[in-house]
Amino acid sequence: MGSFHQSWRQLLLLSSLFLLHSLTAYPAVSGIFYTLCRNPGTYTANGTFEANLSHLISSLSASAPVTGFANDTVGLGPDQVFGLAQCREDLTEEQCGVCLVAGVEEVTRLCPYKKAAVMWNETCHLRYSNQRFFGKLRGEKLIRWITGNVTSDPNFDRILLGLLDGLTARAAVSPRMFATGKTKVDVYDLYGLVQCTRDLALDVCGQCLKTAIGDVQRYCEGKQGAWVIEGSCDVRYGVFPILQRLRRRRPLNPMQEDDRRRIKDPS
Ligand SMILES: *[C@@H]1O[C@H](CO)[C@@H](O)[C@H](O)[C@H]1NC(C)=O
Ligand SMILES: *[C@@H]1O[C@H](CO)[C@@H](O)[C@H](O)[C@H]1NC(C)=O
Ligand SMILES: *[C@@H]1O[C@H](CO)[C@@H](O)[C@H](O)[C@H]1NC(C)=O
Ligand SMILES: *[C@@H]1O[C@H](CO)[C@@H](O)[C@H](O)[C@H]1NC(C)=O
Ligand SMILES: *[C@@H]1O[C@H](CO)[C@@H](O)[C@H](O)[C@H]1NC(C)=O
Repeated sequence: MGSFHQSWRQLLLLSSLFLLHSLTAYPAVSGIFYTLCRNPGTYTANGTFEANLSHLISSLSASAPVTGFANDTVGLGPDQVFGLAQCREDLTEEQCGVCLVAGVEEVTRLCPYKKAAVMWNETCHLRYSNQRFFGKLRGEKLIRWITGNVTSDPNFDRILLGLLDGLTARAAVSPRMFATGKTKVDVYDLYGLVQCTRDLALDVCGQCLKTAIGDVQRYCEGKQGAWVIEGSCDVRYGVFPILQRLRRRRPLNPMQEDDRRRIKDPS
């Protein structure tokens, strides 16, 4: 297995800090998905809301893989449901579909009868709610880092910040709201990725990424890698190639069952 694989394992297994704002629950970490059921509101079995949600999810699962993003609204009044699905920009249509199918399964299992839920993994993202959220900044924070410190270069944090600021400047003028890049720090190749959900306006995307980078500075000083989710956007960096696995068309999920079981649930 390549270094990316190793590093991703480290990210999952060694690190662990979750910060949550405006939320009452910790995310469920089950296997490879982070899931939050954000809203205590519930719907009843076999009712109109459930029918509309199910319609929404099929529609998103069918259309998101085509361009990597879809949002939709289904139903009316109290039975109205809003949702979006997004895949990482470099995924193929098929990879996107596979990720969303697994994510939907997970959300359905972990958030039964909840009127709102959100799911992230490294490659895809799904959100639905009975409240209209398109275009707005969502408030969840979820921060994970690798415990290993970069000790060799006192300029690491400054160079990292320069990389992430540069990526933000690119993402916040591109309709895909996505950018990746690479730089050199001492002996390391340092890789970065920033992205926003595509329902945001470009300036709101920039604002979201600035907040995320602020959290990188605040919580991830000197860390070899981290993933900071800021509700509507996320920032990832590492001293390892964070996209390599997909570019090389390795299997999407090389983790073994053993590894999955060792992932800690923070709650
Ligand atoms: C919902 O529909 C299913 C399948 O038709 C049925 O088995 C179940 O009992 C129904 N549940 C309620 C609460 O009506
Ligand atoms: C919402 O669900 C109800 C009940 O199944 C259905 O009659 C209605 O057409 C749905 N709305 C939409 C827009 O699909
Ligand atoms: C990394 O650095 C932080 C603060 O400088 C320290 O608390 C932590 O123990 C270090 N971690 C490792 C794995 O060296
Ligand atoms: C999708 O989101 C945009 C905001 O980015 C909104 O204007 C539009 O109405 C949404 N589309 C649907 C079908 O809900
Ligand atoms: C995200 O979920 C998909 C679908 O299950 C999976 O193939 C992929 O490996 C996951 N990503 C990570 C980094 O675990």
